[in-house]
Amino acid sequence: VDAVVAEAEVAAEAVVVAETESMTRHEDLPSLGVGLGFRPIHREQIIHFRKSIDFLEIVADHYFTASPAKQAELEMLKANFPLIPHGLALSVGSAEGIDTRYLNDFRGIVEAVRPAWCSDHIAFTRAGGIDIGHLTPVPKTSAALRVIRDNLRRVQESMSVPIILENITESIRYPEDEFTDAEFLGRICDENDVGILLDVTNLYINSVNYRFDALEVVRRLPKDRIVQLHFVGGRMEEGRWVDSHDSTPQDEIWQLLESVLAIAPVKGVILERDEKIPPLRDLIPELDRARRLFPKAIAE
Ligand SMILES: [Fe+2]
Repeated sequence: VDAVVAEAEVAAEAVVVAETESMTRHEDLPSLGVGLGFRPIHREQIIHFRKSIDFLEIVADHYFTASPAKQAELEMLKANFPLIPHGLALSVGSAEGIDTRYLNDFRGIVEAVRPAWCSDHIAFTRAGGIDIGHLTPVPKTSAALRVIRDNLRRVQESMSVPIILENITESIRYPEDEFTDAEFLGRICDENDVGILLDVTNLYINSVNYRFDALEVVRRLPKDRIVQLHFVGGRMEEGRWVDSHDSTPQDEIWQLLESVLAIAPVKGVILERDEKIPPLRDLIPELDRARRLFPKAIAE
């Protein structure tokens, strides 16, 4: 009996070792530095600022059915910068599953770019076969975790690089929420061996609008999973913060960015800007400032 028990223990240990080995070691991903969310308005200028931008995040969806001009743009970007494809509509929170066509298109861009990782959002953009057209928050429940797990399994099986998921600004919260922000994010990471694209601005906005401590959420997350950050300025509107993506980051956002960089081994920081986009030269000082916040060991 003892021999059988010992054998079973050895077998169980082997399973644990195999699982550990197949896990993504997010801490081993390369450090990309501080970069910019690429916007086509900067297409002509971007090459002149190559030395000031460590890497670019591109919206994967913009290249799915690429015209020759978009194809040329992608080639130009790829030749000059490390690129990270960022998806908008994988919709890992959709109960009806992942859209095969979208997944194939996304994978096509990943294969073309061969990035260190790729990203999308913890959200759903499709429900009941209808495209909602924007990122909708997922209820923080066990049922939603099961949906995300099934969807992510499909995504991870088809992607050749790790996918990381971004926290979104939540326009609504659900009364049926079972988990706190930190618990929900932590469970998504641990259950799916997936990393986080922590949008510092989104986290800050949610923390103000729903009254919780943003930094406490970060402290409770598995630090090694925080692979990349987003940051941008927001705006106060009728007593609520909105992620307007239209200004330089406010002091509160710089402070949170600095705190996150001090406690998590982040591999890359992306400055976003989607409205009132200034000339590229005006964004470079913000990249330089963010770069100075990187702990030395990570920045090197
Ligand atoms: Fe973001």
